[in-house]
Amino acid sequence: MRPGNTLLLLLLAFSSALLPLASPTSIPDFRPFYPRRPLPPIDPLIVPFCNKTDHPSVCINSARYFSHEFPSVDATNMFNIMARALKDRIRFTQRRALAMSNNQKFSASVRGSINECAALYGNALDDLSTAMVGFVTRDKGTFEAKLNSVIAALKACDKAFMGNPNPLLKEDERLTKMTSNSITIGNLSF
Ligand SMILES: *[C@@H]1O[C@H](CO)[C@@H](O)[C@H](O)[C@H]1NC(C)=O
Repeated sequence: MRPGNTLLLLLLAFSSALLPLASPTSIPDFRPFYPRRPLPPIDPLIVPFCNKTDHPSVCINSARYFSHEFPSVDATNMFNIMARALKDRIRFTQRRALAMSNNQKFSASVRGSINECAALYGNALDDLSTAMVGFVTRDKGTFEAKLNSVIAALKACDKAFMGNPNPLLKEDERLTKMTSNSITIGNLSF
């Protein structure tokens, strides 16, 4: 084998080690969310907060994974729990989108749309971080505007498919509900 080929193979091996989910041979992960984690018990303290949201079961089923990371469940920490869960799930969905964007079972046009969504999830993560800063600095305007930008990014993902079925639709709908819940819970402490 010529040295050039060896270098190319090394580069390929290196890049696929760095991007295991984005490699063309990887199979998209269609297992349920948090596949390896056992379902944690529901802290009863999260329930009255979640009951105030438009999507209580989505609220409970996202908060239950993270409430134990906080010393107490008050209105402030409840928002932190929601934001933590939302960030985690946007990241998860972005990784899934990157894997899907290499899956040949989708047309080139749909793969392009999936790629657009992956970028939009990146924007959503930035907006979420800014909203969290707004929450901490008691800047209600920034808090609300940036969480609404997250919802707008999720809508833009759906639009990117231009009428083709959106394979990320279920995830986007869930993320939208989680963001809406985060706005409701966050507003409890303003
Ligand atoms: C929350 O809502 C559920 C369903 O409506 C209800 O059964 C439960 O008693 C409520 N819990 C609290 C603490 O508000």
